[in-house]
Amino acid sequence: MSKVTFTVNGADRELALDTRTTLLDALREHLHLTGTKKGCDHGQCGACTVMVDGQRINSCLTLAVMHEGDTITTIEGLGTPENLHPMQAAFVKHDGYQCGYCTPGQICSAVAVLNEIKAGIPSHASVDLTAPQQTTAAELRERMSGNICRCGAYSNIVDAITEVARSEA
Ligand code: FES
Ligand code: FES
Repeated sequence: MSKVTFTVNGADRELALDTRTTLLDALREHLHLTGTKKGCDHGQCGACTVMVDGQRINSCLTLAVMHEGDTITTIEGLGTPENLHPMQAAFVKHDGYQCGYCTPGQICSAVAVLNEIKAGIPSHASVDLTAPQQTTAAELRERMSGNICRCGAYSNIVDAITEVARSEA
C-alpha cells in the first residue's frame, strides 16, 4: 500500500492504494468517478482518456501512485448537465455518439486535440511540421485515432470538434 495525493476536478484527494492500482481504477473504484470508462484496459481503445496536467492520457496504462501532486481532469470536471462544456454541447448537437460508452474519452481527447493544434504540435497527418497546424478533418481523424467508437459515430464527432474549433478561432 502507498499513499498518493492529487487534485481531481479541482478537489484535493488522498488515497491509500495498492501500488499496482491504475489511475483508471483509482478514479472509478476508489473515487467513484465512473464517467471515465474501462474499455480494453490495454491502451487500445481510448475509453479511459483523462487529462493529467493538461495532457490527455490513457488512464488504464498508468499507475495512480505515479501521479503524486498532479492535476487530473475527468469528464465530470469538464462541465455539468446544467452547464455543458462547449465540446460536450457540440457532441450533443451533432449526435457524436450512440451508446455513449466511448464518449467521455472522446470528449477529453477532443479538448486536448484542439489544445495540441493551437500549440502547433504536428501530427502524422500534418503536411508542414513547422507551420501553424490546421483543424482539418484529416488532422482530426488522425489525432483522434486512439479513441475507438464501436458505434461508428466518427463523422459526427469530427463535425462536433470542427464546430468548437471554429467558434474558438
Ligand atoms: Fe484504456 Fe482502452 S481502457 S485504452
Ligand atoms: Fe458507442 Fe462510441 S458511441 S462506442
